[in-house]
Amino acid sequence: MDNFEDFIKNSRKSLDENTEEKFNKKIPNILNAKNTGINVDITKNSISDIEFEKLIKFVNSIGLSEKISELAAGKEVNRTEHRAANHMALRDLESIHYDEEGANISKDVFSVLKKMEKMCWQLNLNLWRGFNNKPIIDIVSIGIGGSHLGPKMAADSLRPYWHDTLRCHYLSNIDGSNFTETMRDLDADTTLFIIQSKSFSTQETIRNADACREWFYANGGQESDIKRHFLAVTCNVERAEAYGIDPDNIYPVWDWVGGRYSLWSAMGLPLALTIGMENFKALLRGAWAMDQHFIESPLDSNLPVILALLGVYYRNIVGAQTHVILPYDHYLSALPAHLQQLDMESNGKSVTQEGNPVGYATGPVIWGGVGSNGQHAYHQLLHQGTDLCPCDFILPLKTHNPVDNFHSILVANCLSQSQALMRGRSEAEAYELLIDQGRSEVEAKRLAPHHSIPGNRPSNTIYFEKLTPETLGALIAMYEHKVFVQGVIWGINSFDQWGVELGKSLSKDVLKSMETGDTDKLDASTAHLVSMYRDAQNRA
Ligand code: F6P
Repeated sequence: MDNFEDFIKNSRKSLDENTEEKFNKKIPNILNAKNTGINVDITKNSISDIEFEKLIKFVNSIGLSEKISELAAGKEVNRTEHRAANHMALRDLESIHYDEEGANISKDVFSVLKKMEKMCWQLNLNLWRGFNNKPIIDIVSIGIGGSHLGPKMAADSLRPYWHDTLRCHYLSNIDGSNFTETMRDLDADTTLFIIQSKSFSTQETIRNADACREWFYANGGQESDIKRHFLAVTCNVERAEAYGIDPDNIYPVWDWVGGRYSLWSAMGLPLALTIGMENFKALLRGAWAMDQHFIESPLDSNLPVILALLGVYYRNIVGAQTHVILPYDHYLSALPAHLQQLDMESNGKSVTQEGNPVGYATGPVIWGGVGSNGQHAYHQLLHQGTDLCPCDFILPLKTHNPVDNFHSILVANCLSQSQALMRGRSEAEAYELLIDQGRSEVEAKRLAPHHSIPGNRPSNTIYFEKLTPETLGALIAMYEHKVFVQGVIWGINSFDQWGVELGKSLSKDVLKSMETGDTDKLDASTAHLVSMYRDAQNRA
């Protein structure tokens, strides 16, 4: 078996020698995953068949199929925290999954789904009432990171499926402005709070929950009303109870559900309340269809595997530093942020599973935005910048909201962007174009380099019939598995996130210095900024 560093070296060498046609421009290369509705056109990738086969050979040599089976079987894949990453068990509504000790985890999953279902109909039928016997109208989801981004993104994406009897608001940042704007038009007797925190100790979430509870009291709620107005979704049931949450109002998640994979668990409660339990289950079914494709398909026709290999090719062999997510659907505006957390928190690592420094690049920077807004902003860099930025164009073929020929125009924009990235425009073509436009030869010669576009910039086009709960579930699951496969190739642990811990603990010391003015233990820059903050507070 090649090690990955040798594999990169050899591939880079043969990349220089290989003159084979990179873009297969004649026959479209479309992949799909059975029962998911997801199709991926990978034709616009600048990779030769030889290079692709080498990648397949490499992942075979490192036992990727066995790693996929280990993940699916609930083995301890998160070795720094001694945990499984069993998010697939959350989406399988039909069979039973067991943990490594043989305990039936599906039993707990199904029972929490039932509890969520009960809450949905109690609220929908106005059986669950706030104090003053008023029906609940507003939900405030309090959570951050994986306990916020996933449910919020899915709710935004599935706007056409909202029941509209409940309005869900999301409070994540520790920022008085976020709090004030969220609470502005709410009434305490018609508002339900859901504290979403796996650990039940995240500073932002707990402080926001404190502020919501204070607001609730200040607006007429009593301690005895907390039971009707505060729920918790957490792995830390003891802490939630100690916080004063009624045990019946606690929705458990388990340590084998990673934060960024928790949308499928009870962390999806705000989403389920928004779109209804049937649609929430349809989302799970869509994800499970992709899981089955991932578990069962051979590597060379496995969508998440192929996307992962293409990503690794550009990152490690070609040297791309970023990967761009470009959904051409207004409802998918929050998708780039969700995938950013999924990918960057998972694969932003620089040591291997064994704790040795990696000798190659790992997770790319993930960024993007909704089309075609980006075309009038950062797409310039995609077309003519010095960096090669592989893109995923994401496209529903049908819109939920037909208005004139808007959707045709949007789709044409999407297709022509990937086409322009691939084809580019040579300097000679640019010159001809300028002459045709009536420029003088001198002027055309001067302008041609500015109008020429290198091309050969790769992209995938991920398309499906319509954005439904099923297709959204499958789409997100596809990206989760892609991230997993890349983590396996890089030999890193995609399921921990120790990097975020340092900032969390330092922020406590900095806060203390800001309160006391004692900056002795701080570095010069931080001490200066702390005194600027203190001075500002003393000014009128
Ligand atoms: O800061 C990163 C993180 O640990 C995420 O992985 C997690 O989703 C988020 O914080 C929130 O954590 P919790 O659900 O425990 O409040």
